[in-house]
Amino acid sequence: MKKNILVVDCCIRKEKSATAKMLEAYLVKYCKGDSIERLRLYDMPLKPLLLEELEKRDALLLEKKYDDPFFDLARQARDADRIVFAAPFWDMSFPSLLKVYIERICASGITFSSTAEGGLQGLCKADKFVYISSCGGYVRGENEGARYIRCVGQKLLGVKETEEFIIDGLDVDPSQRENRLNSEIRRLFP
Ligand SMILES: Cc1cc2nc3c(=O)[nH]c(=O)nc-3n(C[C@H](O)[C@H](O)[C@H](O)COP(=O)(O)O)c2cc1C
Repeated sequence: MKKNILVVDCCIRKEKSATAKMLEAYLVKYCKGDSIERLRLYDMPLKPLLLEELEKRDALLLEKKYDDPFFDLARQARDADRIVFAAPFWDMSFPSLLKVYIERICASGITFSSTAEGGLQGLCKADKFVYISSCGGYVRGENEGARYIRCVGQKLLGVKETEEFIIDGLDVDPSQRENRLNSEIRRLFP
């Protein structure tokens, strides 16, 4: 069945981005025929939640004004059949712009709710999150960016599965960056 795929593109280096190239390979391989909505975070007027907007958000949530334009991104994320995040590995995780986006989609009453027992219930419909990233060094073991996205899905938004596609070591030998990227893309998306 045709899926509604939400692409959250945080590939700040745009057409020069290795992660953006991985994203395209993923979409060609796994999303043929699906409907794709793409958010280019770097072209959006995203701002961290500061006091004024935080108070506005809290007032809207208190009045259950979930249809307010303030929550457009949250409703879009709630309704997607799958969310594909693409972000380079920066400073052990991902660019802050992606965290700002996540602040905008985490809204009580829209993408999650609190249970009477003090727990959380995720309200997102996605079958899974997909996390696509490339790293300069060899990031052995856990990738903190991937770990965080998985945690937000599982513990807050109700998306139990996260699939990760990560290529590391791209900056180890700059003369081999393109070769390594291409061969790893062929391996990950055969
Ligand atoms: C601001 C910044 C921070 C970075 N931090 C790290 C890091 O902590 N560890 C690492 O291995 N590579 C780091 N890198 C290298 C990138 O992860 C690597 O070049 C990656 O392939 C960039 O992806 P892109 O081509 O999609 O932008 C950093 C690059 C930039 C620009």
